[in-house]
Amino acid sequence: MCGIIGYIGNREATDVLIDGLKRLEYRGYDSAGIAVLNGHGIEVERAEGKLSHLEAKIHKHKPKGHIGIGHTRWATHGVPSERNAHPHHVEDVVVVHNGIIENYSQLRKELIQKGCHFKSETDTEIFCHLINEELKKTKEIQKAIANALKKVRGAYAIVVLYAKEPHKLYVAKLGSPLVLGFGKKENFVASDVPALLPYTREVAYLEDGEFAVVSDGSLNVVDSHGHPVTKKKTHIAWDALMAEKGGYKHFMLKEIFEQPRVVEQTIMGRIQLGSTQLTLEGIPKLFGATGFPFKQVAILACGTSWHAGMVAKYWFEQLARVPTTVHLASEFRYANPLIDSKTLVISISQSGETADTLAATQLAKQKKAKVLAICNVLGSSLTRASNATLYTHAGPEIGVASTKAFVSQMTVLYLLTLEMASRKKIMSKEELLTKMEEIRKLPQNLETVLQKADAIKKIAKECVNASHFLFIARGLQYPVALEGALKLKEISYVHAEGFAAGELKHGPIALVDKGVPVVALIPPSETYEKILSNVEEVKARGAFVIAVGEKGDEELEEKADAVIGLPKTVYSLTPILYAVPLQLFAYYIADFKGTDVDQPRNLAKSVTVE
Ligand code: F6R
Repeated sequence: MCGIIGYIGNREATDVLIDGLKRLEYRGYDSAGIAVLNGHGIEVERAEGKLSHLEAKIHKHKPKGHIGIGHTRWATHGVPSERNAHPHHVEDVVVVHNGIIENYSQLRKELIQKGCHFKSETDTEIFCHLINEELKKTKEIQKAIANALKKVRGAYAIVVLYAKEPHKLYVAKLGSPLVLGFGKKENFVASDVPALLPYTREVAYLEDGEFAVVSDGSLNVVDSHGHPVTKKKTHIAWDALMAEKGGYKHFMLKEIFEQPRVVEQTIMGRIQLGSTQLTLEGIPKLFGATGFPFKQVAILACGTSWHAGMVAKYWFEQLARVPTTVHLASEFRYANPLIDSKTLVISISQSGETADTLAATQLAKQKKAKVLAICNVLGSSLTRASNATLYTHAGPEIGVASTKAFVSQMTVLYLLTLEMASRKKIMSKEELLTKMEEIRKLPQNLETVLQKADAIKKIAKECVNASHFLFIARGLQYPVALEGALKLKEISYVHAEGFAAGELKHGPIALVDKGVPVVALIPPSETYEKILSNVEEVKARGAFVIAVGEKGDEELEEKADAVIGLPKTVYSLTPILYAVPLQLFAYYIADFKGTDVDQPRNLAKSVTVE
């Protein structure tokens, strides 16, 4: 949430800042701003709304200078407006901030009593005043910032520009992510790696409590006690092109179509032809050389990642016979959970920066559980807080609605299921080999699913004016139904709900009326007949039924109003295939409606506040 960028070097800072903010806009987009030191003083430009508004504003008068900071906002305190937009500026101090200051009301009262005048409703402006107050006691800006930080409670990633020290950026973090980028005679700081990719792929993640002073020639970091820290550089394999649209109308569509390649990358090197041996990094160390040392698994995640966790519960329990619970990270923290050193906690997060997932993971560690992260972002906070990480290798996901991350998470979780089943010796060699063979076919099968895009678009067009959608499924497909409903509501702003089909008659069927689209996921399975009966029930009440099932299923053709036929695979892998038509369905409905698909209202990609 909120994107931060800072630059110092020989380039025009404004260009780097605007370019970086474009790449970070998925983190928040209700206002944006930059501040540049131009040799005479500080120039601050801010605008309400998307970054394009700021660009239009500075088009004729571009701040000139070689050091600056920028911010794209997702409002927490104070409405989206120009005066609440960052950077915030008081006297010689300018600040951009991501996070939430929890004791902000108290601090604000105290500062007002001291005579400070607030120009915005944000918690961030507190920093500017606190630093200025400290500067009355010490002339050293670094000390003043450090002292100011001691007074705040909550989460922050901040970058400070100080007009009297025009060759340095001051950077600190607690709870919210910040990454340092190393260039030649130039350096960078940003909330997330995509902002840095056109300039450098050598990065280092700032840890909680660390403080960095960034100049064009150096990046000096100290820990919370003021001791120097040597940061280990990480080389990022993604390139800038991977984070661009590549001819697609939206990032979301591009990311949906990337899924066959993504799954190929996710499984690459992890399974070998004709072998039951899996190579999952970090697992032998975490599980031991043989066997499975845990009594239970507890999965922690939010949103789409939580849905991947729900699918994994079915797999872990049914294929590997491991008792599994799945928790919304935001609830887990306050539930006094029953976990201990015999629990394997699996924290799933695309970004690795979701505040609730991080906090729940910390709690799990306090309770002595071992933590395995399933994550897409190399070196992110979650991976650093975990005992081991299985990366999803999905590449940068920019569209706010998660698509390829979901499919890659499920793929990793399926591999992990086979690893557990194999270690517990409860799956025969033949079965393991069959399942691995089917995994290997996934990229090709996903290609075949994507060929249905035009047909799905036509079905979407028929439903575009509906204001309620139901998604129904049973068993393994139930979380996919929830995910289908989530995709639709978040990008097209219509009401959509997912239900376990057997629950319909316990209440939700009252929602069904003439023409209400009901998307039913019906792969061949032991509950096939049952869900067909549910289809009959909603049809009898006037629903427009869209069935997603196996290609050539004549019964579906007969019973449903529209059918999306997908390739045959083993039942356990169907969630990975069946998720994709629902992504396309949501995408086309949103696109027909003309909503902002990549940056839907009220959302942000990385939820770094609790
Ligand atoms: C929905 C979506 C969110 C995220 C959730 C968790 O499309 O993207 O529901 O899945 O905010 O984010 P991560 O996986 O980064 O922890």
